[in-house]
Amino acid sequence: MPDNRSIGVFDSGIGGLTVVREIFRQAPDESVYYLGDTARYPYGGRSDDTIAIFGKQDARFLLEHDIKMLIVACNTVSSVALDAIKVIAKDIPVVGVVMPGCRAAVARSATRKVGIIGTRATIRAQSYTKGILAIDPDVAVYGRECPLFVPLVEEGLTDGEIPRLIAQHYLYELKDNGIDSLILGCTHYPFLFDVIQETMGSAIELIDSAVWTATEAAKLLKAMDALASPGRKGAEESKFFVTDLTQSFANNAARFLGQELSSLEAVGMERLTKY
Ligand code: DGL
Repeated sequence: MPDNRSIGVFDSGIGGLTVVREIFRQAPDESVYYLGDTARYPYGGRSDDTIAIFGKQDARFLLEHDIKMLIVACNTVSSVALDAIKVIAKDIPVVGVVMPGCRAAVARSATRKVGIIGTRATIRAQSYTKGILAIDPDVAVYGRECPLFVPLVEEGLTDGEIPRLIAQHYLYELKDNGIDSLILGCTHYPFLFDVIQETMGSAIELIDSAVWTATEAAKLLKAMDALASPGRKGAEESKFFVTDLTQSFANNAARFLGQELSSLEAVGMERLTKY
């Protein structure tokens, strides 16, 4: 029987819209309840304890709505607090962005050498390394934090000299490791796809976690017999919430989502911190 409840998706801010964009592309019948914690963004440089507190509050806000699945679209939260969020979600299935990216990389790497780039917290947690080794202990994983990539994307600096130099600074060592796949382990990095590809060379496949997360979420809904009614216009039924209506969010939202947002509401921080 169709299940027209929304999929809850949250991120530290705007970046999770790249996951929503993929959901709308791969499963257009599905609607989304989105929360971007723009008031406390960015999470990537914070301590694990703080990231876990924020992530659980974000999850609880969405779990109060009638959602059928929860996607943790933030790589940083998925890396640090996914298990804790699964506990509070009880019987609502929780999908993070890390394992879909790991599975795609292991399936596609011929050299058994995979690179992963992300925020400081994501690389520090070694979530992708652990995830890949759990699937195949013979794969070598090389991680690199790239903290300047997020502000570059937010500023719209996604091509030209500046991102190219920064990409070279971060990525040259990774290239020397002989990897054949590189996981883009951060919501913002798909916008630097061309610069990263140019820096790494065409022999290295870039793996976008957002794409594989949407694929796995849709598969899971199908297996649960919980897909939305065919022909439904999921994007139009979707609702978007932020904890602070920032100029940056207003400027960038349509670019990240690939279309205009159907609605946008600010929720006060007290709605989250009460949890
Ligand atoms: N959404 C975060 C991630 O995917 C990037 C932005 C942040 O640092 O909060 O890791």
